[in-house]
Amino acid sequence: MPTKLAFFAVLSLAACERTPAAPVTLPRPTESAHAVAAVAELPADVSAAFDQLQGHLKERLLAEIARVGPAAAIDVCKTEAPQLTAAQSTPTLRVGRTSVALRNPANQPPAWAQQWVRDQGRRKVAGGAKLASVALPNGGTGYLRAIGVAPVCLACHGPGAALPDALRARLSESYPADAAVDFAEGDLRGWFWAEREASPSK
Ligand code: HEC
Repeated sequence: MPTKLAFFAVLSLAACERTPAAPVTLPRPTESAHAVAAVAELPADVSAAFDQLQGHLKERLLAEIARVGPAAAIDVCKTEAPQLTAAQSTPTLRVGRTSVALRNPANQPPAWAQQWVRDQGRRKVAGGAKLASVALPNGGTGYLRAIGVAPVCLACHGPGAALPDALRARLSESYPADAAVDFAEGDLRGWFWAEREASPSK
């Protein structure tokens, strides 16, 4: 019977389409011995360095916003944030901040963190790893800690269209390639990173 035949043909075709292709698992290039992986905790000195940097930045940010408003506070961020960050580094522990959506192009992730930062992308902080580390080929260690978006951050990293004109003008003047807007509270804004030297100098 032609109708019956057609029925079976359709059935088997549908079944065929639903058969999953055999899984192909190719190792990704970074999934070698030196891939960044989530960890439960970081060494105390690394956490302390991140805490201090975060504290200093927040303190200066809030003080300047209160004093001159967010638009003018951008100038302080521009000069002081890199200084405060550099000041946190020691001869054996380099510290920095980075993001997948950069404002300051000088805040590029170190080579070992690039893939991780890209893969984590723009998501909610709560939705994934907050701490990570990697054994570096040179014998050192890399560390990362997630930076979340708090309400105070939205003045300068919130929805671009909602930023006041004066602030947007200052941003585009100082950071023509600014990608650090359109964040919401609770978003993953970026990462503190630290790199420990293999052999501490005395
Ligand atoms: C007054 C405006 C302003 C506020 C408020 C602000 N930022 Fe920024 N942010 C900047 C500027 C300007 C830079 C670029 C300067 C730098 O750090 O090198 C920056 C850079 C950053 C970076 C480094 C990565 C990059 O894109 O260059 C991170 C991470 C960051 N901000 C997170 C935050 C967080 C988290 C908050 C809230 C606690 C916040 N910011 C609040 C202006 C602001």
